Amino acid sequence: MAFPEIRMRRLRRSDSLRALVRETTLDAGDLIYPLFICPGKGVRNPVSSMPGVFNLSVDEAVKEAEEVAALGIGGLLLFGLPESKDERGTGAWEQDGIVQRALRALRDSASASKLVLIGDVCLCEYTSHGHCGIVVQGRSGFEIDNDSTLELLARTAVSQARAGADIIAPSDMMDGRVAAIRRGLDADGFSITPILSYASKFASAFYGPFREAADSAPQFGDRRSYQMDGANLREAMREIELDMGEGADMILMKPAMPYLDVIRAARDRFALPMGAYQVSGEYSMLQAAFEKGWLERDRATLESLVSMRRAGADFIVTYFAKEAARLLREQASR
Ligand code: PBG
Repeated sequence: MAFPEIRMRRLRRSDSLRALVRETTLDAGDLIYPLFICPGKGVRNPVSSMPGVFNLSVDEAVKEAEEVAALGIGGLLLFGLPESKDERGTGAWEQDGIVQRALRALRDSASASKLVLIGDVCLCEYTSHGHCGIVVQGRSGFEIDNDSTLELLARTAVSQARAGADIIAPSDMMDGRVAAIRRGLDADGFSITPILSYASKFASAFYGPFREAADSAPQFGDRRSYQMDGANLREAMREIELDMGEGADMILMKPAMPYLDVIRAARDRFALPMGAYQVSGEYSMLQAAFEKGWLERDRATLESLVSMRRAGADFIVTYFAKEAARLLREQASR
């Protein structure tokens, strides 16, 4: 049978018909909101390249988290801007580091502690050189030393778990970090703390605005010796397989919109829970188009998020989480 017996438009005639046959849903509980924690009190510094995003001191972060919880959002992903930086990223793993302090304060808030609190584990926000690992002198210039970085990442993970993180999310792309973190957590009594590995993380121009938000731009060179080449899908599948073998409980795919095919491929191959990270540049480019009046804010926001769920992501890390949750609430009450 074909046209005229078959008419696809029959099921598109009304809101209720469209709702009945909708294949993909989006729920505020599927969203994770990133926060950038900075020193001080009462600080709310706007990030110029990311309208609506701020560096927040711990007290302000708690207020923000309470708002996020009231919107029904699933959780928070925490990044830190330390008071000072050094070659080894000490601020990442100090017991009273900036993220550790934020975690303790969030745990003390009745409503904020209902959120899933995820600690991003990486050294780039804490190192003076801005790289995600230890920098050493190699044969032809500087190199990021994989194996000596692992211990510091494990230490960071343990300090975050002690401070109250529900999930540990390594984003550094060193080889073997999931196993090192798993060993570290288990040895410290955190055998039930899950690891959300940024298994599929590409060296992307779309992280640009984040590096302003987290003050983490590399001072020399770039991240292409540890993050993946954007041209490689099969390599991403190997990364995920390896991280699963090392004990990753969930994986994060990043960036999202320019890599939806990679998300789909991973969903078709692997059974573990999977998140997509709609990164800073994806947010900023949409915000810029909204400001110019070139795109409809509400529809484009939700469409971008639905595309990630359709590609196979279970949950989404997004700077649009609060706006999206408000929109979804409005839609539900219509
Ligand atoms: C830390 C990290 C980065 C992002 C998440 N964790 C920056 C980078 O790798 O350069 C990017 C997130 C975003 O752009 O929103 N390594």
